[in-house]
Amino acid sequence: MREQNAVLSTKTQENISGMRVVKAFAREDYEKEAFRKENREVLRLNLKVSYVWSDFVPVLDFLGSLCTPALMSLGAYMVVNGQLTLGVLVSFTNYVWMITGPMRNLGGVVNMLAMASTSAEKLFRYIDLGTSIKDKPVTRVPEKFRGHVVFDHVTFSYGDGVVLKDVSLDARPGQTIALMGATGSGKTSIINLMARFYECQKGTVSIDGVDVKDMPLQALRDRIGIVMQETFLFSETIGNNIAFGRPDLPQENIEAAAQAAQAGDFVADLPQGYETIVGERGLGLSGGQKQRVAIARALAYDPTILVLDDATSAVDMETEHEIQQHLQKQMKDRTTFIIAHRISSVQKADEILVLEHGCVAERGTHAQLLERKGLYYNMYLDQYRDFAAMEGQVS
Ligand SMILES: Nc1ncnc2c1ncn2[C@@H]1O[C@H](COP(=O)(O)OP(=O)(O)OP(=O)(O)O)[C@@H](O)[C@H]1O
Ligand SMILES: [Mg+2]
Repeated sequence: MREQNAVLSTKTQENISGMRVVKAFAREDYEKEAFRKENREVLRLNLKVSYVWSDFVPVLDFLGSLCTPALMSLGAYMVVNGQLTLGVLVSFTNYVWMITGPMRNLGGVVNMLAMASTSAEKLFRYIDLGTSIKDKPVTRVPEKFRGHVVFDHVTFSYGDGVVLKDVSLDARPGQTIALMGATGSGKTSIINLMARFYECQKGTVSIDGVDVKDMPLQALRDRIGIVMQETFLFSETIGNNIAFGRPDLPQENIEAAAQAAQAGDFVADLPQGYETIVGERGLGLSGGQKQRVAIARALAYDPTILVLDDATSAVDMETEHEIQQHLQKQMKDRTTFIIAHRISSVQKADEILVLEHGCVAERGTHAQLLERKGLYYNMYLDQYRDFAAMEGQVS
């Protein structure tokens, strides 16, 4: 019954958070039926529990109740024979009633214990799983975090199938490294290794000369600000979302970060400004607005290494351009990783890595890569062909 309850909870939770998808694909009836099926199973199991209950409880109750007349008869007999006073018999029966209550409760407790142990089993299964990425007994931190990221012949797989093959890169403090490549080519995986969400099987990833595997996770991630590919905001005020990594951040810094991420204007236009609650239980934001709040959150963290994983995919070209203008200032003293599909977002980078099936297929600056006339050049042509064609028509 408990397990089926869990199934039903999952179903409910998924349907609520995935409500838009269900509606968009007109699957309401299907989902309703699926819910009904699971719910019926809960009903069936509950009834079964009740049947078991009803088989035992009346019998036990009946047996228990038989004792009272038996005791009364025996007591009455003894009172008549003068072996017992009436007072003792009355108090004795009262005590019996007083003791049956707690004994019945004990039955309930046993039942609760059984239910709790099924739940506990599940809970402990997850607690025991824990995380495979832990601090080593002896950890090391760089003397000063400057943001020098080095990948030295890194090979990595999530389980089966190699995702990154022999990747090397050297991002010096203050440099901007751009990662490009088709979807699934391993761009996000590089970031996952740098922030040590996963560990590589071969090679080393180091920051300022220290292997990330030797660093305490807290210290490592304290220096890396990531704008994730999938934007997630908490059901909280915009201000608290921006200050998520630094809860005691003064309001002016929150606003400065929002300005730099081009979020300041739209937040200022909201009736409650930075106090507006967003997310599931608040105001719905557009995709681009969410991304800008997420960029502000990363900037407010004041990281040494800034990661923008497809961070401007949902904002228009013009806003993206403005964000980049502002980021230029922010990026001067930080090592920045930009993952993007638009040439316009990456062309100013100090080095552009083009990944293909987990390998670095091409690397260099915008000008060098154009000269190579390889993958990057083809992407460039694809993105500018229409534009060039139009130019041709005009001139
Ligand atoms: N958590 C994971 N577990 C197992 N495999 C994964 C996981 N994350 C990614 N992969 C696989 O690793 C490969 C590289 O994924 P990655 O997320 O690095 O791609 P990407 O270059 O960031 O793509 P995109 O442009 O679509 O974001 C893909 O084939 C993907 O299926
Ligand atoms: Mg990705």
